[in-house]
Amino acid sequence: MALAALLVIAAASALSLPPAASLAVTSPYMRPPPRETLSLLKDHDADGQTPQQVHISMVGLDKMRVSWVTDDDAPAIVEYGTTSGQYPSSATGNTTSYSYVLYNSGKIHDAVTGPLQPSTTYYYRCSSSPAREFSFRTPPATLPVKFVIAGDLGQTGWTESTLKHIAASDYDVLLLPGDLSYADFVQPRWDSFGRLVTPLASARPWMVTQGNHEVEKMPVVEPEPFKAYNARWRMPYDVDTAGTTSSDSNLFYSFDVAGGAVHVVMLGSYADFAAQNEWLRRDLAALDRRKAAAFVVALVHAPWYSSNEAHEGDGDAMRVAMEEVLYEARVDAVFAGHVHAYERFARVYQGKSDPCGPVYVTIGDGGNREGLAKNYVDPAPAVSAFREASFGHGRLEVVNATHALWAWHRNNDDEPVVADQVWITSLAANPACNRKKNKT
Ligand SMILES: [Fe+2]
Repeated sequence: MALAALLVIAAASALSLPPAASLAVTSPYMRPPPRETLSLLKDHDADGQTPQQVHISMVGLDKMRVSWVTDDDAPAIVEYGTTSGQYPSSATGNTTSYSYVLYNSGKIHDAVTGPLQPSTTYYYRCSSSPAREFSFRTPPATLPVKFVIAGDLGQTGWTESTLKHIAASDYDVLLLPGDLSYADFVQPRWDSFGRLVTPLASARPWMVTQGNHEVEKMPVVEPEPFKAYNARWRMPYDVDTAGTTSSDSNLFYSFDVAGGAVHVVMLGSYADFAAQNEWLRRDLAALDRRKAAAFVVALVHAPWYSSNEAHEGDGDAMRVAMEEVLYEARVDAVFAGHVHAYERFARVYQGKSDPCGPVYVTIGDGGNREGLAKNYVDPAPAVSAFREASFGHGRLEVVNATHALWAWHRNNDDEPVVADQVWITSLAANPACNRKKNKT
């Protein structure tokens, strides 16, 4: 604890210094090795129509998509209400399925509930099954709002530890910057991942974007990329709202939280950059940031800034293609996964410290089976504020229109420990960073 406190103080001190004197912190803490992959290949309590692999995602400000799987045919209906056991409202959606080499998925259903009241707990059941009741809480309509951010989750003992820590926090929305199941072509692992995350993902919206482990493309045999991911983790890419612009791909989209006070852009590290950039310019140009969005954050998978030796350069092409658009729109922070470690940068633009650039964070340390990325470039670049190779998750609490608190929680011997913490101030509230007009 004493070391953690010192590191927090050191990191905070480093931020307050001018860029030339920046003191990068390389934490000496090292985690034990990867943990075993969990075995959740069967849902032993389920019959063919029992809903399983339940997760929810926001659709606009006041609707929620419920997604679930049944082994056999079942209706794509969600019944819901604000009292346990009573379901006066219902929504009917769609069912899909896919095959992958010799694997045939279960029936993958989704239905959009709402309009819903903010900050309200709804009880629901899927496919009219009396076997399982779930509940979720809708995000607040105004600030403050609490996000959890965790990338590269996988399904190991460390994932379990991370999820336990996340469950103990009272968050509103989870953001996942790619690499979910680590199914790696073995499709039943998508099912086991769905079962693993159901207790959390059925209760709070899980907003995800894709990583390289989601591609699962095989020449000739399986030429369609993201087959399982797109079928199982449908996000609200096709929804236009007051503050968001629809895209034509599940691989990149945006959504608003807290009445539009926070705008979240979910980018695709493995989606076409030209089409994505065109959509991103429109999405950010339409954002009337001064009136609505106090904070704008973006997620990618492969980090644009990293001083870890793992995956060096993987995010460079995307950074070159899209960094200017985020900078011109005064995006406050960019969160990435891919590198299995934690790192926080100062505000950066084009490789240099810039007070109007985003804070860059790598949070690819959810607990996957590949283990940690322990080797860093030495010495640390001046713009790297804190870096450590251990598993954990992050929490971003947007407290008001000017301040957000970012904290990284390390899985320290199965207890979460705050190892890095920093206040992020909104660029929209900084007169020196008045947002330039977006190029459209
Ligand atoms: Fe990755």
